[in-house]
Amino acid sequence: MLERRSFLKTAAVLGGGLSLAGVHPLVAGQTRPSRTLRILILGGTGFIGPHQVSYALERGHALTLFNRGRTAPDLFPDVEQLRGDRAVGNLEELAGGREWDVVVDNSATDPGWVRDSAQLLKDRAGQYIFISSQSVYASRAEIGIDETAPVGRPDLPREEWTGFGPTKALSEEEAQRAFPGRTTIVRPSLIVGPGDETDRWTYWPVRVHRGGNVAVPGTPRDPMQFIDARDLSEWVIRLGENGTAGVFNAVGPTALLSSAEMFYGIRAVTSTPVAFTWVDADFLREMGVRAWSDMPAWQAPRGAAAGFSRMSNARALAAGLTFRPLADTARDTLEWFLAQPPDRQASLRAGLSAERERWLLAAWRVRTTGGVP
Ligand SMILES: NC(=O)c1ccc[n+]([C@@H]2O[C@H](COP(=O)([O-])OP(=O)(O)OC[C@H]3O[C@@H](n4cnc5c(N)ncnc54)[C@H](OP(=O)(O)O)[C@@H]3O)[C@@H](O)[C@H]2O)c1
Repeated sequence: MLERRSFLKTAAVLGGGLSLAGVHPLVAGQTRPSRTLRILILGGTGFIGPHQVSYALERGHALTLFNRGRTAPDLFPDVEQLRGDRAVGNLEELAGGREWDVVVDNSATDPGWVRDSAQLLKDRAGQYIFISSQSVYASRAEIGIDETAPVGRPDLPREEWTGFGPTKALSEEEAQRAFPGRTTIVRPSLIVGPGDETDRWTYWPVRVHRGGNVAVPGTPRDPMQFIDARDLSEWVIRLGENGTAGVFNAVGPTALLSSAEMFYGIRAVTSTPVAFTWVDADFLREMGVRAWSDMPAWQAPRGAAAGFSRMSNARALAAGLTFRPLADTARDTLEWFLAQPPDRQASLRAGLSAERERWLLAAWRVRTTGGVP
């Protein structure tokens, strides 16, 4: 344990908190990890957790999951499960003499949760990987937001920080306080792929598969960013394998992806006849059609959240984040959704309803043709 700790400290110093990926280059599926890790996952049975578990098992690591046992309790019968409730500070099963090389904290949004678990584990674990969010950034407007940008609410005293992004920022600090130089902060953008119960990106492959005239936002050139849960999860495990400390935006794909590339890329995985109608950003606003929720994964390029489609991922790429092809994400997400029970499929949890989309397209036709069909 001590050996690993000094290794991590050296990494943080040498790499300026960046990465050890250059020392132990690991690319998913190509190189086996040099040794078996004992990994504790706080969470592990929700959306991203199961992908971490599967990948870590595949790579020969020893896993322990800690959660309440409410979400998919039978998912990994052969993996050690500890029970407790972070919301009420019930961490008894984490106490005692157990040691882990890496802790992955998926489940915290509350700084108190991170403080309790990180303080409890700081002398018994080598590295703390905290799954944070791009929402920590104080401003969403700038293009190319990198990890040095201000977080939280700089306009308010810290005691008054509330809401998802600011509390994630405070949670990051708790992890860093308990594991100085041994913390890895991962800030994902929209996490997508099979198993996403929010349907935020799933809407698009499903909608395209349903065929016909699809209303899509803005212009064909608008940038789109997201990350496949499997790319994120596999990289998180490799960050543990490599002892990579630092702060990282976890954003895909590698280079700029235009909305035309995304939508035609999705179209390529279905055989349904489909056409796209790009509806102008100002018109969407006028009609009360919202970016992100009604038009998932999209941000108006001149809006207050424009930066959320143009985050910098340079640091993560240097630390070994890789991306599967868009076609894999689109096909697997669609297949997963089509395997859900009919009532789950009947109503998507994000995007436009069929009726609202028809109304929007009709209104846009009137606007662009002056009512002439
Ligand atoms: N989805 C996105 O687009 C997105 C974007 C950026 C960042 N993020 C972040 O990414 C992470 C994703 O989480 P996930 O749901 O996929 O993780 P996960 O590890 O797969 O699932 C959440 C886990 O937390 C456990 N849990 C929930 N409440 C708990 C409690 N009070 N005490 C102990 N365990 C508890 C759940 O099990 P039990 O119910 O059995 O306790 C479950 O195993 C979150 O931190 C989220 O903020 C998400």
